[in-house]
Amino acid sequence: MARENWNSRIGLILAMAGNAVGLGNFLRFPVQAAQNGGGAFMIPYFTAFVLLAIPLMWVEWSIGRYGGKYNHGSLPGMLETMWDHPISKYLGVIGLFISTIIIIYYTYIESWTLGFSFFSLTKEYFGSDTFDSMSSFLGSYQGKGEGHFASILPAYIFLLITMAMNFWVLSKGISKGIEIFAKIALPALLFFGIVLAIWVFTVGTPDLIKHPDWSVAKGFAFIWNPDFESLSQSKIWLAAAGQVFFTLSVGMGTLHAYASYVKGNDDIALSGLTTASLNEFTEVILGASIAIPIAVAFFGLNQTQEIAAGGAYDLGFVSMPVIFQQIPMGSYIGFMWFFLLFFAGITSSVAMAQPLISFLKEQFGFTHKKATAVIGLSIFMCVNFIVVFYEYGVLGEMDYWAGTFSLVVLALLEVIVFAWIFGMDKGWRELNAGSDIKIPLVFKFIIKFITPIYLIVILVFWIKQEAIPTLMMDSVEPEQVPYRWLARGLMVTVLGILLLMIKKASSKTGRLKFKMREQSGEDDV
Ligand code: PHE
Repeated sequence: MARENWNSRIGLILAMAGNAVGLGNFLRFPVQAAQNGGGAFMIPYFTAFVLLAIPLMWVEWSIGRYGGKYNHGSLPGMLETMWDHPISKYLGVIGLFISTIIIIYYTYIESWTLGFSFFSLTKEYFGSDTFDSMSSFLGSYQGKGEGHFASILPAYIFLLITMAMNFWVLSKGISKGIEIFAKIALPALLFFGIVLAIWVFTVGTPDLIKHPDWSVAKGFAFIWNPDFESLSQSKIWLAAAGQVFFTLSVGMGTLHAYASYVKGNDDIALSGLTTASLNEFTEVILGASIAIPIAVAFFGLNQTQEIAAGGAYDLGFVSMPVIFQQIPMGSYIGFMWFFLLFFAGITSSVAMAQPLISFLKEQFGFTHKKATAVIGLSIFMCVNFIVVFYEYGVLGEMDYWAGTFSLVVLALLEVIVFAWIFGMDKGWRELNAGSDIKIPLVFKFIIKFITPIYLIVILVFWIKQEAIPTLMMDSVEPEQVPYRWLARGLMVTVLGILLLMIKKASSKTGRLKFKMREQSGEDDV
């Protein structure tokens, strides 16, 4: 059986863009920008984009395509092919760990977007028309406290549907599942995003008489007016790097997995750049033009600042539904917003499961269907943990360690293996093989020196300013502490299981199983 491939270039690009474009673009980015210096945020943001994200993305596509030639679809095996050392496969565990943990909480949030799409069409939340009543609507949906919903059941049903959809797409494989799905979801999402952004522009000043200064224009000013003084704070630079990592899905192991299904020496340089550009368009142009500007038009600047400080969920799931109730055709516009988020989410979450599925197939000889089912059920069991303990901060705990901190660790590891162990000359040849563009030579220098140094600096600041306080649970409410420990226990268990699996897979020869790619053949789905 030969390794599967992407069917078409456009399919590959849309699937990769689907991987990157996610909830991060529409919810996380505007909040980050608004809170970290407005327009000035774009300076550290683009610096991190050019010096970290683009180089790392090329490194990940190269590692992935190279590993795929040895039939490796996840990081442990990929690192082993580039660095022949007994430890490399174990270090590669981070690439499985991060995506496994993220998918556990990400699918839960994703399922809310599906639920709220439905509630928009049925006008379920109509009537909860103030910020507070909508907050309690969301809270009761999540199973905390009194409110519209008497139990967690509706949320649970949408979670089941979301999980089923994810693993249904995955069960069809790379070209017949993920690729076809991305070809539908990504254009639809872009269309919805453009329609919503245009709608926001047309809203202008909704209440000229009572609140003449509550306007969309003021909202744009809020996001984009630069506060250059903030640039002297390291916090802003860290936030920008964190956002760039999260939004482009670098440092997670998922880009590698997708790239391992790129055929032979098909171009990766231009495809990678195109995907990153699509993600930036969706983030900087569409993501910034919807939720925040419209919130300022309807709630004014002060309250929007509070909403943004409350985080991405308040912005997406509370303030937006309140607005939808005040506008013509609000239930349809609301549906568009939440369904856009759902498509953005699901094209990302399928990517998170892919490394694990490849790992089981390649190392333990599982059939595609069996691997998908086993991973689906295991993830589902873990998601229940989030559902039950949601109100005790378990999601935040996992998001910090797996969704923020580990990304930089993985990025540093892979760039060192690629540029220093595998070797920058070989690495550069690998990246440029089959390339449709000529990458400026300066990137060879950036990848070898600048990116690793930048990452080390970030890591040092991060450990000092955030990781240690987070580890000590400095600002955690006392009642959350035991549950946060539970979340850590779950993460350590997942890590342990993955390490044992790597050990088991390589027990006979000391190396993971690999097989040189056959040049043609049937899909192995
Ligand atoms: N990049 C995605 C987003 O912006 C998140 C993601 C995380 C995707 C992990 C894949 C893997 O929401």
